[in-house]
Amino acid sequence: MADLSINIAGIPLTNPVMPAAGPPGWNGEAMKACAEGGAGAIVAKTVSVQPATVPTPNMARFPGGFLNTELWSELPVEQFIAREYPIARQAGVPLIVSLGYTAEEIAQLAPRVRPFADALELSTHYIGDDPAPMMDAIRAAKNAVDVPVLVKLSPFRDMTTAARAAAEAGADGIVAVNSFGPCLGVDIETGQMLMGSREGYGWLSGEALKPLALRCVFDVARAVDLPIVGVGGITRGSDAIEFLMTGASAVGVCTAAILKGPQVYGKIAREIAKWLDEHGYASVEDVRGLAIRRWREREFRTVHVPPTLDVDACTGCGLCEASCVYDAIHVIDDKAKLSPEACYGCGLCVTRCPVRALSIT
Ligand SMILES: Cc1cc2nc3c(=O)[nH]c(=O)nc-3n(C[C@H](O)[C@H](O)[C@H](O)COP(=O)(O)O)c2cc1C
Repeated sequence: MADLSINIAGIPLTNPVMPAAGPPGWNGEAMKACAEGGAGAIVAKTVSVQPATVPTPNMARFPGGFLNTELWSELPVEQFIAREYPIARQAGVPLIVSLGYTAEEIAQLAPRVRPFADALELSTHYIGDDPAPMMDAIRAAKNAVDVPVLVKLSPFRDMTTAARAAAEAGADGIVAVNSFGPCLGVDIETGQMLMGSREGYGWLSGEALKPLALRCVFDVARAVDLPIVGVGGITRGSDAIEFLMTGASAVGVCTAAILKGPQVYGKIAREIAKWLDEHGYASVEDVRGLAIRRWREREFRTVHVPPTLDVDACTGCGLCEASCVYDAIHVIDDKAKLSPEACYGCGLCVTRCPVRALSIT
């Protein structure tokens, strides 16, 4: 079986799948369940100097995505130190402690959580787009403790600038990304906003976030030479592979674990291993950054290159025909037939074909 072990900022993990800070790590028992469910590391819910006052309702599912307005933990850091982190440590996998937000707060919190932490993760969610407060927070953490300091970036900022600033301030790794927003959703039966925050605003996570998160990871990977934990919309092994190919060394999962339970971590790890085996890769490291290398090799083109059709593989399902706005592909006698002269080379049919009978490079 492919080797799933990785090393992130000096911390060895048996597999690259871990929770992303949030409800999966809301208390000690929940964190332990993540490890029992197969996570390679535990990431705790973000704590700050003051517990958060969280509006309700604060979580909602909609097709393809998820909204939340959960802020950071409602539990005091004293409780995490006295009870939750010690329980999480019983799981025997590395524990990453998430802290927020300002340099002053991090300077206070970091030494207190250090006895339990294999690494710190700093959330930058509520300190804005200017890199200066983030850099001060990183320096405060680095001055206070000797464990690796990861920085979690939110996706609304310039990722290149943020990642370079994080590296300059001494960060040991980047977590990308946090949820995106503000966003909005309405329950049309009640006319109520889905979120109970003052403006009704919520933050987007889950499947809909994945393309944005991948772009952010790609930008970070090209900007700095730091390990990256890719986060955003990962629900299955193939999602995780996309993040690895885009430059991540490990992946974080929050929404899928909220919706499906902590066993999802082991399931995603097994799916990664299966995919690597089936495709002849020996390790996670073998696919890391592959999409960046391919992107460098691929020539920018504007000429219409039609896809290649494997007629034997085609099942004649008709999805390609249904979505070809150029009328370039038709199913005749249960097989797709391509008209290269009509084809715009847009590539959509390739992504619609359920059996990969169509391909384009
Ligand atoms: C309900 C909820 C609470 C969250 N709380 C935190 C948090 O306390 N700290 C943090 O850094 N990110 C928090 N996040 C963001 C997640 O860690 C993650 O970055 C984001 O949800 C995207 O990943 P996903 O699509 O796998 O959920 C939260 C997300 C959700 C859905």
